[in-house]
Amino acid sequence: MEKQEMTLTGPWPGPKGLIPEPEINPENANLHTRKYLDEILVEERIIDAGEADIGLTLFGESFSSAIMMPAFSHLDKVGENGRTPMVEYAQAAKNMSLVNWVGMEPDEEYRKIADVGARTIRIIKPFADHSIVQEQIAVAEETGALAVGMDIDHVIGDNGKYDVVDGILMGTISVDGLRKLVDSTPLPFIAKGVLSISDAIKCREAGVKGIVISHHHGRMPFAIPPLMALPEIKKALAGSGMKLFVDCGINTGYDAYKALALGADAVSVGRGILPGLLKKGSSGVEEKVQKMNEELAVLMGYTGVRNLGEMDPTVLWYHGKRMVSSN
Ligand SMILES: Cc1cc2nc3c(=O)[nH]c(=O)nc-3n(C[C@H](O)[C@H](O)[C@H](O)COP(=O)(O)O)c2cc1C
Repeated sequence: MEKQEMTLTGPWPGPKGLIPEPEINPENANLHTRKYLDEILVEERIIDAGEADIGLTLFGESFSSAIMMPAFSHLDKVGENGRTPMVEYAQAAKNMSLVNWVGMEPDEEYRKIADVGARTIRIIKPFADHSIVQEQIAVAEETGALAVGMDIDHVIGDNGKYDVVDGILMGTISVDGLRKLVDSTPLPFIAKGVLSISDAIKCREAGVKGIVISHHHGRMPFAIPPLMALPEIKKALAGSGMKLFVDCGINTGYDAYKALALGADAVSVGRGILPGLLKKGSSGVEEKVQKMNEELAVLMGYTGVRNLGEMDPTVLWYHGKRMVSSN
């Protein structure tokens, strides 16, 4: 089990653990990410503006919002009173027609989540033994996943060695290894955990169809905020058709708007759904996303953006300067 991801109660497990994060710790990428998101401001463009449509089209399918579920894992093991939070948030995705994501879950557990019927992207760990990856891809295919992928940023553990998760060893991800996985499945393949042009270009070379610009809630100390990386990655991949997803710190519709305006195709809320999920199950998640959807629509409305295709980064300001200039 990812040890930083399993503790839902008890003492604070460290900078990579679950909310809240009380300490000001400079290595903690989550703190830098929060600060960066909060310091991006938005100019108003109200004349000719109106209500916005926040609907998303992804891999040829329609969804109600560009705000998606996170690629969580292990929550059923810590769910109290027989609760199954992994299934519950999939149910919220199904009820609201959102893209669902699932992280490291054994096939048996994954099947239960897939049974809910939400359109799901399965993210598989970079296991050193690629036969496990292939088996899990096969189950994703068989259960009708929307896409499949790998959190390529979970190779190194806290001691600088290949990580071991739930007793399974992780291993290096090479461009060739990635290409073999991409070629092995008809499903779109996603690489989760890209923060550099270098990795983004390698993903494109390998035939990856989408990347999640993410630091996996701070796996790497001092990781840059995803939104800092997004503009230059978008530029480097221009014309490739690569889908750009963002997560980390996306906790309001305003955060989502900033990522979408900067060029993300869609975003995942992360630990922001946990309080509602753990307290009320799927309805708690639905309330959270509904509020985020409204916040997203507010900023789209105030900036004259009628749909996701009209998002414009020139509305964003950072420290008194426009983040992206209009040509
Ligand atoms: C309980 C928990 C389990 C997670 N499991 C996985 C996983 O198995 N695979 C993965 O790629 N990311 C996993 N993540 C990371 C999330 O997908 C996401 O990248 C991260 O939570 C985003 O940051 P945020 O929580 O600050 O929004 C997990 C996160 C949490 C909180």
